[in-house]
Amino acid sequence: MAAPSDVQTAQSSASRTTKLAVVGAGAVGSTLAFAALTRGSARTIALLDVNRAKVDAEVLDLQHGLMFTSQAHVIGSDDVAVCEGADVVVVTAGAKQKPGQSRTDLAEATIGLMRKILPGLVDAAPDATYVMVTNPVDVVTYAALKISGLPRERLFGSGTVLDSSRLRVVLAERCGVAVGNVHAYIAGEHGDSEIALWSSASIGGVPLLDWEPVGGAKPIDAAVRAEVHHEVVDSAYRIIAGKGATNYAVGLAATRIIEAVLQDERRIMPVSSLLDDYYGIGDVCLSVPSLVDRRGVTDNVRVPMSDDELAGLRASAASVQAVQRRFGF
Ligand code: 2OP
Repeated sequence: MAAPSDVQTAQSSASRTTKLAVVGAGAVGSTLAFAALTRGSARTIALLDVNRAKVDAEVLDLQHGLMFTSQAHVIGSDDVAVCEGADVVVVTAGAKQKPGQSRTDLAEATIGLMRKILPGLVDAAPDATYVMVTNPVDVVTYAALKISGLPRERLFGSGTVLDSSRLRVVLAERCGVAVGNVHAYIAGEHGDSEIALWSSASIGGVPLLDWEPVGGAKPIDAAVRAEVHHEVVDSAYRIIAGKGATNYAVGLAATRIIEAVLQDERRIMPVSSLLDDYYGIGDVCLSVPSLVDRRGVTDNVRVPMSDDELAGLRASAASVQAVQRRFGF
């Protein structure tokens, strides 16, 4: 087994197939690496973190599970060279959200960090697709596009993929059906102004707004929808209050996005991309259902929206733009 920090040895011995670079070996980055390893998402998983002791320890711990996963190489370093030749670079490094803080409270620290790390990353992995996970993800994605000069397709944020999973889990529970039978998106900011796209949601092929309860479940009326939306928006706050960070679901959500890129899936996912006249909304990174494939985000899907949903999406865009402007973007 290669020494965890021996970048050269590990890279030359790794077969040149898919390489995922994970920037940040904190709770999110290391959980994401674990999820990618157990799902067999990439042949090489490279971890980069300024804290050498931490990254070496995470790499060793991941390597020791290799007997139980599909064939993979796990490498790590505090040197950006570990990311060389990556097909996907996922950025999780950044300030940690404390109990009571909103995601936007982190903007100053994380934008400063992006200015520091992105030029080196783009030098090391100029052809990679970049997936931003660091919060506030929409503002960070917009700033990262400006700082890196990468095309809008190849740099986007994990957005509301996680929130949409939360929505589906809560709806599935309330309706008494499997999560996989629920199709519903959260759109807008990955944060307090996000909205649920109720008018396009469906359960087992039935539009959610026409859903008739089965097995004694309650109807999903306007009051229940408001409760569900609140539960989704509040999820991260509840988890952070209880354990200091969210890591499992965000790690899985980001891994699923990475797979859509590496496997050229053309999967529709609510990632955060730079919008250009999406229902009149532009010059902001926001989540709407979008096509994800090997080239990154190749299109935004124009989902039919009610007047309220459209107003909510516009308000969410305005709220993200107000934060962007505070940082000169
Ligand atoms: C989450 O929603 C904190 O953005 C992170 O779990």
